Amino acid sequence: MVLENRPTPTPTGRAEEPDMGSDVIPTERYTSPEFAQLEWDRMWTKVWLNAGRLSDIPEVGDHFVHEIGRESFIFIRTADEEVKGYYNICPHRGSRIRPSVGMGHAEQLQCPFHLWTFNIDGALETVPDRQHFVNGIPENKQQLSEVRVETWAGWVWFNMNPDAESLHDFLGVIPSHIDPYRLEQYHVVDDYVLEWSCNWKFAVDQFAEIYHLPALHPQLLEYFDHLATPLDVYNDGMHSRQLIRMGTPDPGWTDDLAQRFGYDNKDELTRQQRTNLEDCGVDPDTFEGKARELPPFMAKARREWGERIGMDFDLLVDEQLVDNFHYMVFPNLTFNFTYGSFLFFRPRPHPTDPNKCYWDYQVYARVPEGAPAPRRPATVYGTARNHPELFEAVEQDMAQAQIVQESYHSAGFSGILLNSEERRIRAMHYALDQYLYGPDR
Ligand code: FES
Ligand SMILES: [Fe+2]
Repeated sequence: MVLENRPTPTPTGRAEEPDMGSDVIPTERYTSPEFAQLEWDRMWTKVWLNAGRLSDIPEVGDHFVHEIGRESFIFIRTADEEVKGYYNICPHRGSRIRPSVGMGHAEQLQCPFHLWTFNIDGALETVPDRQHFVNGIPENKQQLSEVRVETWAGWVWFNMNPDAESLHDFLGVIPSHIDPYRLEQYHVVDDYVLEWSCNWKFAVDQFAEIYHLPALHPQLLEYFDHLATPLDVYNDGMHSRQLIRMGTPDPGWTDDLAQRFGYDNKDELTRQQRTNLEDCGVDPDTFEGKARELPPFMAKARREWGERIGMDFDLLVDEQLVDNFHYMVFPNLTFNFTYGSFLFFRPRPHPTDPNKCYWDYQVYARVPEGAPAPRRPATVYGTARNHPELFEAVEQDMAQAQIVQESYHSAGFSGILLNSEERRIRAMHYALDQYLYGPDR
């Protein structure tokens, strides 16, 4: 059947890149309060930002509070097909309308300080003892302050700049790459907000390269190939992608290393590969090749599994059923797509301290069309320590972040040197500079 508005498959070819230079990156960009303020004034308040999931606010009056930097916003469903966003501030004396983050439902939005009440469209409806406002209430105090909102891929997005381009223009090539996944069929199954002891950019950097994989995550070498990873920068440095080959051991997975992890030799299917096959209902012993030869067999197994359970992978090419299609969307989003789930990372700047950030970590799982959605988990709040329930690699990445942030303050360190496999970090700085200093900087 031909679907209307059917996306075309995700492009897999290589993209042209701007010349982004080769200078070391100054550490002040990660440590200086002045630089953080510049980022706030010229970047955070000018770009489209991801606020939260539309499925968290299915009914009119459902809302959630989202914070970034010093700002707090309420996003509320005002009609079946409409979501509005307001600064979470009462125009009377500046109280928060909603004192804390989280989801809720309301017929009206009432300020807890003096009980001014607004309808869900943000208009002031009732004011206790109104006669005391002997000079009347100015028009700009009769409305919650609104922020621009658009939706895409099942998310609410917002922009503090009323003159910004559309979300679609901001996202550039990203929807054409991601729409084939049919993200509206995915549901949040894990939700964390963790405070990291590093600048928000290091929490982006830490997932922008896998050069560190053999050293920091040797346990991943049995099913990640860290060398064969085509890498593309899009839209003048704004967004990027790395195709991380998964499902096959790394070329550095030698007999010696395999034996260290309890295998006979490097050609034996690894535990992760066997689990991946079993997850699709395939007996791993029916595969007769070497571990490095598994990907085409794996792709076929996953496609057939999808057909059996009613999960349609017809818009995904075989690579997408095996590899990690890893996207970064400026300034702060990372998506790790695999065949039926994806990871979502969203560091947000700390309100006052450039040495800290909040790292939003969500796991999304796809369910077959028509199947019930899994229960929406409560958000877990914490720090970057002691989360053995998360992937071991995430714990390793979080620990490294604090070490590097501390070093960025040292007089003995002369700036961040990046190789070509780390150039998504450079791309992020390059795009950031265009906001901070203009395209002709
Ligand atoms: S500050 Fe909100 S009613 Fe006074
Ligand atoms: Fe890592």
